[in-house]
Amino acid sequence: MAGVRDQYEAFPYPARDPRDETKRLITGSPSFPAEMDHHLWAGQRDWSQELRVLVAGGGTGDGLVQLAQRMHGAHRPYRITYIDLSTASRKVAEARVAARKLPDVTFHTGSLLDVPLLGTFDYIDCCGVLHHLPDSDAGLRALGAALAPDGGLGFMVYAPYGRSGVYPLQAAFNRLYGHLPPKSMLKHAKATMKAVPASHPLNRNPVVGDHKQSDAGFYDLLLHSQDRAYTIGQWSEALGRTGWHLAGMAQPGLYDLAGLAEPPEGMDPIARMTTAEELRGFIKSHVGYARRDTGPTVDDIPLRDRIPHLANIASGALAKAVATRSLRNITVGPEKFPVALPPEAASLIAGIDGKTTLGQIIARESAGEDRALRLWTKIETALLPWGMMHYSRWLVD
Ligand SMILES: C[S@@+](CC[C@H](N)C(=O)[O-])C[C@H]1O[C@@H](n2cnc3c(N)ncnc32)[C@H](O)[C@@H]1O
Repeated sequence: MAGVRDQYEAFPYPARDPRDETKRLITGSPSFPAEMDHHLWAGQRDWSQELRVLVAGGGTGDGLVQLAQRMHGAHRPYRITYIDLSTASRKVAEARVAARKLPDVTFHTGSLLDVPLLGTFDYIDCCGVLHHLPDSDAGLRALGAALAPDGGLGFMVYAPYGRSGVYPLQAAFNRLYGHLPPKSMLKHAKATMKAVPASHPLNRNPVVGDHKQSDAGFYDLLLHSQDRAYTIGQWSEALGRTGWHLAGMAQPGLYDLAGLAEPPEGMDPIARMTTAEELRGFIKSHVGYARRDTGPTVDDIPLRDRIPHLANIASGALAKAVATRSLRNITVGPEKFPVALPPEAASLIAGIDGKTTLGQIIARESAGEDRALRLWTKIETALLPWGMMHYSRWLVD
């Protein structure tokens, strides 16, 4: 059976062409600076201080390129260390960083189990990697040992229900073709996939489509030899027993029972999240942040002192959509979640520029402070659950 390293040498993942760096920046969570700040540092990090980053299992470089580009573009000091088992993946990541002329990135080939030897880091990105380790707890402990005292982790791990149909096919293809070299295994499995009926859970799964995108995607999804998924409860336990705790999810709304069910009084937060995951059924990965120490959270910072920051949408565009009532839903995975934002919220939204405190934004409102604060509660309720707004000082000079 091809080992994990052989797989990623044969099929660097995700499949990327460095020439595309001139055309687009691939973005995604974790590892947006504002999102990191919101969940890990109560939105109060001093970004004039160098951010020492480890990208653990960096693959072909999506997380690395995104973070380096954003930090470099915003003139924020950083130093990024990339490590991955696969030299083929590293070559692609290096070429992407070179194409963008991004400074302050160092590349290593090796195992993340050895990262404590590489130094101490304020932030570790580990996206789509820990679930491929034979002992994920050992990985979490190694990352913890490389973290600075006030540091944090951005993670993505697979979740079981949204990956419905994946694991039976991985088992079957590994039993049938696992003795073959990776390229030959892929060829045979792709041929067999044509005979898998339309009624198979994978073929009916609306949220998983990597196997249709590229050979690397097919291999990563359906031929992996080392792959497990975690319910949010299992993941929280794994974090707990390795010295971490969950600091926040990129889209906390997914784990909220509101609109799904009324939990019995006193149900603990992780049981609520687990129940929401079970009821939704489509969550295919858990994306979020973890810390080792408990620090202040955004909720501990006075509302007026927080600096709101929109993710992936300009404030003018969002304000216009709200003013004209054209924003009715937010689409997450296969679902649409209704948004209740009155048109009067538009002027507050228009004031969000990532640099101005909420107190300053509210002071500009002619309609009065109490009304502005009531509207702001509605804006938070609409945007925070879906990771569309964060509190962060990262653009403040
Ligand atoms: C699914 S890819 C994810 C790549 C990247 N983080 C991303 O999100 O696009 C998993 C990567 O983890 C790497 N990997 C797996 N086990 C590792 C280990 N023990 N140490 C370092 N890298 C590892 C693989 O080589 C592969 O590049």
